[in-house]
Amino acid sequence: VQLKRNVQRLWWRRFVTEREDMVGMDAAIVTHPTIWKAAGHVDNFVDPLMECSACHTRVRPDKAIEEATGTAPDSALTLEQLGLAAQRANVTCPKCGLRAFSAPRHFNLLCRTSFGQQGEEAFLRPETAQGIFVNFAAIVGTVRRALPFGVAQIGKAFRNEISPRNFLFRTREFDQMEIEFFCEPSEASTHFARWVSDYHAWLMAMGLRPDSLRLVEYERSRLAHYAAATTDIEFHFPFGWGELMGIANRTDHDLRQHSAACGRELKFQDPRNPQRAPFFPHVIEPSIGLDRLVFALLCDAYHEETYRAANGESAQRLVLRLHPELAPVRFAVLPLVKNNEDLVSKARKLAHDLRLAASPFEHVVEFDASGSIGKRYRRFDEIGTPFCVTVDHESLRDDAVTVYERDTQQQVRLGVDELLRVARRGGGDFSSASTRAP
Ligand code: GAP
Repeated sequence: VQLKRNVQRLWWRRFVTEREDMVGMDAAIVTHPTIWKAAGHVDNFVDPLMECSACHTRVRPDKAIEEATGTAPDSALTLEQLGLAAQRANVTCPKCGLRAFSAPRHFNLLCRTSFGQQGEEAFLRPETAQGIFVNFAAIVGTVRRALPFGVAQIGKAFRNEISPRNFLFRTREFDQMEIEFFCEPSEASTHFARWVSDYHAWLMAMGLRPDSLRLVEYERSRLAHYAAATTDIEFHFPFGWGELMGIANRTDHDLRQHSAACGRELKFQDPRNPQRAPFFPHVIEPSIGLDRLVFALLCDAYHEETYRAANGESAQRLVLRLHPELAPVRFAVLPLVKNNEDLVSKARKLAHDLRLAASPFEHVVEFDASGSIGKRYRRFDEIGTPFCVTVDHESLRDDAVTVYERDTQQQVRLGVDELLRVARRGGGDFSSASTRAP
């Protein structure tokens, strides 16, 4: 949970609060069917599905073909062609092992629910995006922005996925971090290219390796019903390359569709040019799944390493090299031994003071007194804690502590007041901080 929160916090900071052209919003999850009819999801938000005639297990033929052959079938194949391709690929039922499937048909991924006294039909949103479009008039009426400007939102999305799998990669309930960036129609392709490169750079700054990422530009036949251009940023997951996020040029599709459905023109009046007639801005949409990003960050941070231990022998460790800003536990405070009252209470007090110092940054501090210091270091390496702070007998006299850095395994001696000062700044580059004389 803390890792997810840290990713969200950094995303919000990078794409909302550090920019002058972004605002945030929080729209409804349970939504009226008219929204999804207008957006095209009722008719087009479908995946192919075939059913095992023996045990009725439902399978996505395109994914099953990819698993059986190692290559994804052309997304432009008709349902009939997909059925034939599944036969050629010898796709078998994952449950009973038979090869007797119904002909593929379309399956709509919207999750239905009911709402209100009469139990009226409603949908759980499959993306956060539409909440931004249907609130467009309220947003422009409130935030007083000129184009271009973007609206950012983080929230739950639900899809009735046919085959949820691969850990966090495909689930039926997940979080999205989406931006709808409204711009002049003539500038849409420039903004599109900028968002692709900004996101690529941000993902690497978050800790993903350049060779784990690739950009995939969609051919026309693969584009979603709303998009004029799409580039996916794919990540090399343990099961192969998969979509981490997409950047789409949605043109004015959504605003036009909702305008037609609600009978109110969701147009933009240029505040810098009142003579100009209101018009539909175009939209660039970078959309990323929070859970998929967490999964990717965990994959690239995971390292099994050999290192030279203090006794000169080679040893193994498992270390999660998460960026310090992402690490779920930022500081671990460790009394050297657990049966010395003075050490334990000094360490507890330091953990408390560090918590207060680090709380504006949502940095978690843990106290751990059990096991040898070496074992505790390994435990915190495994969960990616960048700094372990040991309180020893000397600390009782000189008010200094030993800070162990996860990545370098270096240890530096630091005064408690200096440690708290660094924590208050949200920093943590202790190897370059001066070690204070007692
Ligand atoms: N508004 C555009 C949109 O929703 P999408 O490609 O369907 O586009 C955007 O979804 C992102 O949401 C994906 O790139 C992925 O990171 C994430 N995502 C989509 N379906 C998901 C699922 N079933 N489980 C986890 N994440 C998912």
